[in-house]
Amino acid sequence: MANVVKLKNGGAGDNKGSGNDMSVTLPVLHGTVGPDVLDVRALYKNTGKFTYDPGFMSTAACQSGITYIDGDKGELLYRGYPIEQLAEKSSYLEVCYLLLFGELPNRAQLEEFEDTVMDHTMVHEQVATFYHGFRPDAHPMSILCGVTGALASFYHDSTDIHNPRHREVTAYRLIAKMPTLVAMAHKYSMGQPFMYPDNNLSYAGNFLRMMFAVPTKDYEVNPIVEQAMDRIFTLHADHEQNASTSTVRLAGSSGANPFACIAAGVATLWGPLHGGANEAVLKMLQEIKNEKNVPAFIDKVKDKLSDTKLMGFGHRVYKNFDPRAKIMRETCHDVLKELNVSDPALDVALRLEEVALSDPYFIERKLYPNVDFYSGIILRAIGIPTPMFTCLFALARTTGWIAHWMEMIGEPEQKIGRPRQLYTGPVRRDVVPLPKR
Ligand code: ACO
Repeated sequence: MANVVKLKNGGAGDNKGSGNDMSVTLPVLHGTVGPDVLDVRALYKNTGKFTYDPGFMSTAACQSGITYIDGDKGELLYRGYPIEQLAEKSSYLEVCYLLLFGELPNRAQLEEFEDTVMDHTMVHEQVATFYHGFRPDAHPMSILCGVTGALASFYHDSTDIHNPRHREVTAYRLIAKMPTLVAMAHKYSMGQPFMYPDNNLSYAGNFLRMMFAVPTKDYEVNPIVEQAMDRIFTLHADHEQNASTSTVRLAGSSGANPFACIAAGVATLWGPLHGGANEAVLKMLQEIKNEKNVPAFIDKVKDKLSDTKLMGFGHRVYKNFDPRAKIMRETCHDVLKELNVSDPALDVALRLEEVALSDPYFIERKLYPNVDFYSGIILRAIGIPTPMFTCLFALARTTGWIAHWMEMIGEPEQKIGRPRQLYTGPVRRDVVPLPKR
């Protein structure tokens, strides 16, 4: 599997100024598609040097056969299938099956999978007591971090992570229970009773009912909203080695309880540079208020001193349109039409998109709308409060997280993740006794 590349190293980038040239031979590994990687695993052993790559700008942290992104083309493939085709032709649970097991299910496999997942939708009654320990005005992501981690204290029947069957049961439980946990976080913040799952509904339909139904009234799931919800879940299901997935892998690499690892993923997703972006997009659109304020806002974004970003734009990997953003844009229009909602935020968003896409600042930096640019508008139209947006992302991404966790634990050569560092602190020195300092 290995070609050989020779690297000449030396003066430039040698911060000690020693200028000593060095030549190393590194194997090159080839994936099925995408850039080759230099295998530096033996670099320290052979040269006494580490690589330095904060932010993982040039580092493949693992091998994976789950998701492929071509950022220049704007292509996203789950197990080889383009996201556009999956969003159009497959349900979220089909996509979950695909991500977990590598192939799309046939009808019988899908039915069995759906039944199994829907059988696990309830959470232990005691889980409800965790919610009551939180302040009602707590951010739902803080609640979700807590209750997801709390699941680690249940299910003692499947804690052997080296047993493939235990891993599979854990995956079913997580995918099934996440909508219940998210809806409970919403109900708790509203002061409404928790709604039990209804396993006769679809995955998305059940989630909508748990979110919006109350025990005193019948609730009918709107099929257009149900389809939009399902599509939002599909678009967010996985995205290779993003910050939260890498966190889940790193946490899992120590052999930690999988529910605790997913809680770590939830925590990472919360940040505004990651899953918190759609919440931030909506705040930004509300602050801009009106289409006529768009040019002034764009000027502020371009002013490096202002520290203002155009939220929902830009991506570490996509240097072209995020393919998910295109689908989200269409879904956004469908939902607003179906619900007869006219949202000034959408007008501001469309104007921002138009102005930004023709502005050299964004063109030169290859900044395009990402998935979060439209998702917030859809979620708001459906009636989901802004602080809940990231919880929905977490719900959908749970499948990706657990698929990566299963892939990693299943690898025969799996090792604990342990990055090294470029130390810039004080060199060794002696402690001066307190009275003499
Ligand atoms: N608005 C304005 N300028 C931007 C933006 C933006 N949204 N994104 C990047 N830039 C600029 C940077 O200031 C930088 O400019 P410079 O070269 O003059 O210094 C250049 O573009 C490169 O940006 P980086 O920050 O180096 O890009 P990076 O890959 O580190 O960041 C990120 C990617 C975090 C997504 C960034 O584009 C961003 O903050 N976007 C807004 C937040 C957002 O929408 N996040 C959602 C990501 S998608 C997801 O998690 C589902």
